[in-house]
Amino acid sequence: MHKFLPFAWFKGECIPFEKATLSIATHALHYGTAAFGGMRAIPDPNNKDFLILFRPDRHARRLCQSAKFLLTDLTEDYVLNSIQKMLTLNKPAVPVYIRPFVYTSDLGIAPRLHNIETDFFIYGIELGDYLSPSGVTCRISSWTRQQDCSLPLRGKISGAYITSSLAKTEAVLSGFDEALLMNTQGKVSEASGMNIFIVRNEQLITPGVDQDILEGVTRASVIELAKDMDIDVIERPIDKTELFISDEVFLTGTAAKITPIKKIETTELKDERPIMNLLKKTLIDITEGRNSKYENWISRINVN
Ligand SMILES: Cc1ncc(COP(=O)(O)O)c(C=O)c1O
Repeated sequence: MHKFLPFAWFKGECIPFEKATLSIATHALHYGTAAFGGMRAIPDPNNKDFLILFRPDRHARRLCQSAKFLLTDLTEDYVLNSIQKMLTLNKPAVPVYIRPFVYTSDLGIAPRLHNIETDFFIYGIELGDYLSPSGVTCRISSWTRQQDCSLPLRGKISGAYITSSLAKTEAVLSGFDEALLMNTQGKVSEASGMNIFIVRNEQLITPGVDQDILEGVTRASVIELAKDMDIDVIERPIDKTELFISDEVFLTGTAAKITPIKKIETTELKDERPIMNLLKKTLIDITEGRNSKYENWISRINVN
């Protein structure tokens, strides 16, 4: 059972979640002409009057960039203020996932982005672990990640998630937890909703932003943390075969946090993951408000 926060942000105000409904003729529903964000808000373990958000500025920036692809002006301030108002009213006592959503809200047909009304809403849903923190098994998807020349992949565009959905379901129905997608060049791109890192010879390697990935906020943070820890970080294309001989392989994302990969296809990966463990511990400390060095990566919202 999904547990939604009681109030959603809808048409410029907070209203009860059940009343935030749309017509079946809503343009975005038919054409995937929407973009969304996803961030976690967790009660501050040290002070229940506060919620902690991880890099909301980065999430808001990516959402506004995504909105631009939909020819919609959305400002970071508006997104952040609306989230703040919605959270203050809801006062969640457990970790939640916030879903801001911008979409073509006109009714009627004809795929386009010009001469069309757009709108914005936000809702929240309780969310614990999206993937098992102890690790996941992955299938190499038979679906290929889209190319940036056919879809603006730097935006989190709803329509793009048909490929994620196909890949995830194919993986799960064939007995795996998650899918790894190659790009059209045959190089590793990402998982259905997470970026990927490998460790080889103590170097942390991840596909660059030119590999048809979503520019993940968690990915950027992990890269920054690793550099601060003097770990070598290399952004470069990753060959499929490297996945099977890496010392560590892990996924990053707001929902997945840092999740190790235990097995890819029929290849078991090592249980020891010293670099991932170090990064994971640091990231969790930051997101839970226990690391003063990266205090500027979190925002605390007073909900009382
Ligand atoms: C396709 C895809 N890749 C990567 C990510 C990870 O991005 P982030 O770390 O910003 O959550 C997501 C998260 O939503 C995603 O949907």
